[in-house]
Amino acid sequence: MEKKITVLPGDGIGPEVVAAAIRVLKVVAKKYNHDFQLAYAAIGGAAIDQFQDPLPEETIETCKQSDAILLGAVGGPKWDNNPAELRPEKGLLRIRKVFDLYANLRPVKAFPSLLDASPLKREVAENVDLMIVRELTGGIYFGEKKRSETEASDLNIYNREEIERIVDNAFELARVRRGRLCSVDKANVLETSRLWRQIVEEKKEHYSDVTVEHNLVDSVAMKLITNPGHYDVVVTDNMFGDILSDEASVITGSLGVLPSASIRSDSFGLYEPVHGSAPEIAGQQIANPAATILSVAMMLHYSFGLQEEAAEIERAVNAVFEDGHYTADLVKDGGIALSTDEWTDKVIAEIDTNF
Ligand code: NAI
Ligand code: MG
Repeated sequence: MEKKITVLPGDGIGPEVVAAAIRVLKVVAKKYNHDFQLAYAAIGGAAIDQFQDPLPEETIETCKQSDAILLGAVGGPKWDNNPAELRPEKGLLRIRKVFDLYANLRPVKAFPSLLDASPLKREVAENVDLMIVRELTGGIYFGEKKRSETEASDLNIYNREEIERIVDNAFELARVRRGRLCSVDKANVLETSRLWRQIVEEKKEHYSDVTVEHNLVDSVAMKLITNPGHYDVVVTDNMFGDILSDEASVITGSLGVLPSASIRSDSFGLYEPVHGSAPEIAGQQIANPAATILSVAMMLHYSFGLQEEAAEIERAVNAVFEDGHYTADLVKDGGIALSTDEWTDKVIAEIDTNF
């Protein structure tokens, strides 16, 4: 298979973790005979420094000519006092909008060997394997904003088409996972939630193989902590999804292992670790590259349909953890922390041995 990938390393630890993930990608390409062409471009603070623009036109053009995007992270104290238009995160918001990446997928899966790091009891966290599907380009974050001396308002607005496409995505995912969909809303008070719930009910007819439940967001916020193993696919709007996906991310206790995807209806997508640019550890080769490596696995799965290759990366990452190899963020008492590259070498060796 031939594919073009735009690589946006970004700021802080972004370039290190992306370089590690690209090494893994190259090994997979060799093993399975694929040709992945890489084009590097600038985003975030690095792009501000070079082009005075967090998402330069050149970068957009490069992305348009590719089949998927791999992103590191953006941001850092260097740009914290810049005006709004010249802030690194503006590049992130814009790239999602420019490419209409309306579905944000955040899988949360427990790695048995990492459960000591979870704030939850082992028996609560150990069976977690869920996917939060968050609507990313609509709702209250993008509705009309008003502010006077005495009042402020943010409009929460969704149209039918916006809800239908994200709900379809979630049903499709549920059907190839464990066949369970939880739709999250606040239908007891919000009109947008009532439309959302109605559309899920309509769509349900077309997915008879999926079991659907509707839950209120406040109830889900509790259940994610008391019984996270209950969930398979969880679909929700932009703001609820923002909050619930961050809540769900602490279940595993390891920010450095969580990947994400932002996709649309065709196969194009943007893949990035959930964590930020961790400027205080940048350039030291101590960052955990697992989240970015697993983001590459998501790219292979969701943009390229390469399920076997994706599963091979996930298997390798899990095996390296099971063998007791960790970077500094996860190393256990008395253990030796591997550098970013050393840990990546272990993953590569794991994939290589099966040639
Ligand atoms: P962060 O995720 O960068 O760091 C939070 C904590 O986790 C820090 O202690 C950091 O050292 C650690 N950490 C994160 N990723 C790690 C990894 N791969 N390996 C080892 N340790 C890791 O979030 P923070 O500190 O709130 O933000 C730092 C910068 O990142 C800010 O400029 C922020 O705006 C930006 N940011 C960017 C995001 C993105 O590009 N998608 C998302 C979140 C924050
Ligand atoms: Mg957030």
